[in-house]
Amino acid sequence: MQNIVLIGFMGTGKSTVGKRLAQSLAWDFVDTDYEIGEVTSLSVSEIFRRHGETRFRSEESIVVARLSQQERLVIATGGGTVLNPLNWNALAQNGTVIALHASLEAILARIGNKNDRPLLKGPREAIEKLWSERQECYSQADFIVDTSQKSVDEVVKEILIQL
Ligand code: S3P
Repeated sequence: MQNIVLIGFMGTGKSTVGKRLAQSLAWDFVDTDYEIGEVTSLSVSEIFRRHGETRFRSEESIVVARLSQQERLVIATGGGTVLNPLNWNALAQNGTVIALHASLEAILARIGNKNDRPLLKGPREAIEKLWSERQECYSQADFIVDTSQKSVDEVVKEILIQL
């Protein structure tokens, strides 16, 4: 049985939905950012601050390569994980890829003041540019679920129907 891989922009609900989906399927849940934290003993923002994004991306690819060898995992990726085609291929070869989509307004409203994501710290124009640039990549998923106006349960239900 292959994995289920959740991709999408920061704040689209990948980790929250992923945990609930894994519970419904009685599969294990893993979060690539969490795994990177375990391996490096640093938080994502600390890695960015101390070592830069390049180091973060290399740790991310190592985690992706390892998780892609496993089965029956619900994997919540980071928003930039699948921008690297090697990561995309590794995950897609052994998994169904589901993109969670949300409008930028919904994302910013969800994140509010609790924002420790390095790439969401800039001005709104920069975040909007990143969001727009990434949509093409996310749209290559096996299917897309819009989470903007839905509860976690509704999103999980929709995924289970589409699988
Ligand atoms: C990133 C998204 C973050 C985290 C890192 C970079 C991105 O994960 O991997 O801050 O490039 O979009 P979430 O999507 O879980 O916030």
